[in-house]
Amino acid sequence: MASNPEQPVNVQQSLTRSDAVARTVGEATVANPVMSARGVNVFYGDKHAIRDVTLDVAHNEVVSMIGPSGCGKSTFLRCLNRLNDTIESARVTGLITLDGQDVYDRRQDVVQLRARVGMVFQKPNPFPKSIYENVAYGPRIHGLAADRSELDEIVQTSLQRAGLWDEVKDRLSQPGTALSGGQQQRLCIARTIAVSPEVILMDEPCSALDPIATARIEDLIDELRQNYAICIVTHSMQQAARVSQRTAYFHLGDLIEVGPTDLIFTNPRHKLTEDYITGRFG
Ligand SMILES: Nc1ncnc2c1ncn2[C@@H]1O[C@H](COP(=O)(O)OP(=O)(O)O)[C@@H](O)[C@H]1O
Ligand SMILES: [Mg+2]
Repeated sequence: MASNPEQPVNVQQSLTRSDAVARTVGEATVANPVMSARGVNVFYGDKHAIRDVTLDVAHNEVVSMIGPSGCGKSTFLRCLNRLNDTIESARVTGLITLDGQDVYDRRQDVVQLRARVGMVFQKPNPFPKSIYENVAYGPRIHGLAADRSELDEIVQTSLQRAGLWDEVKDRLSQPGTALSGGQQQRLCIARTIAVSPEVILMDEPCSALDPIATARIEDLIDELRQNYAICIVTHSMQQAARVSQRTAYFHLGDLIEVGPTDLIFTNPRHKLTEDYITGRFG
């Protein structure tokens, strides 16, 4: 690849975009994906925010998405459960499937999709309701519990899976917003799990948390992998290295390189990936 570190960045971009950048380096696809993105583009009005992104997510894996701010990580994540639908100027092209079904099919129920592909945000955002109600809300609107005891069961199991049960079991009627930041984020994870998702999307889920709360969430992500596929956006390369099996490196709207996390961080194949992980960019 022709890329000279001495060149001004804009010149390098115009050279690379047409050739090396156009094709993602590494294995973007897997044999039996839960979610699959093929040739996905997102525009905000005239702005082309992500370009021709192809990336699969497999069962029982954590895929991390890294790259400089503004490179399109959140935009890509939001395509997967159609959260970009809520942004008026956003237009998505390409194919995204969940278990082989086109998620942008007009017959797709978007509320249902967002239960199957749940999202955890940067800032914990519990509802202004009790701890119990935060978790029970989804199962109730989706009709997942036949009666109160089934609902109690779902709430308990979800809080257990989110590693929060022991801390809250005696105060389920207290407001979710009264918990610490780390507990609130685990509550949001419990709320996501409660509707039995297949995929959990996390957009910088630890960036508002202290190191101890972060470590708890990271341990939790590793456990959750046994039951869910997880896509996590993180600005921390250390976090990507700790929690994910595969890493995808985005740069200015292009998916530059995807590969096993240990290889991406020890032996990146693309110059742009190498520049980023060695701290020369971003
Ligand atoms: N709602 C929006 N309207 C217009 N432009 C947006 C919107 N959201 C993101 N963008 C633009 O799209 C690009 C990618 O943004 P984003 O996906 O948030 O990047 P990242 O998450 O990697 O920081 C940026 O140039 C950003 O300014
Ligand atoms: Mg973002």
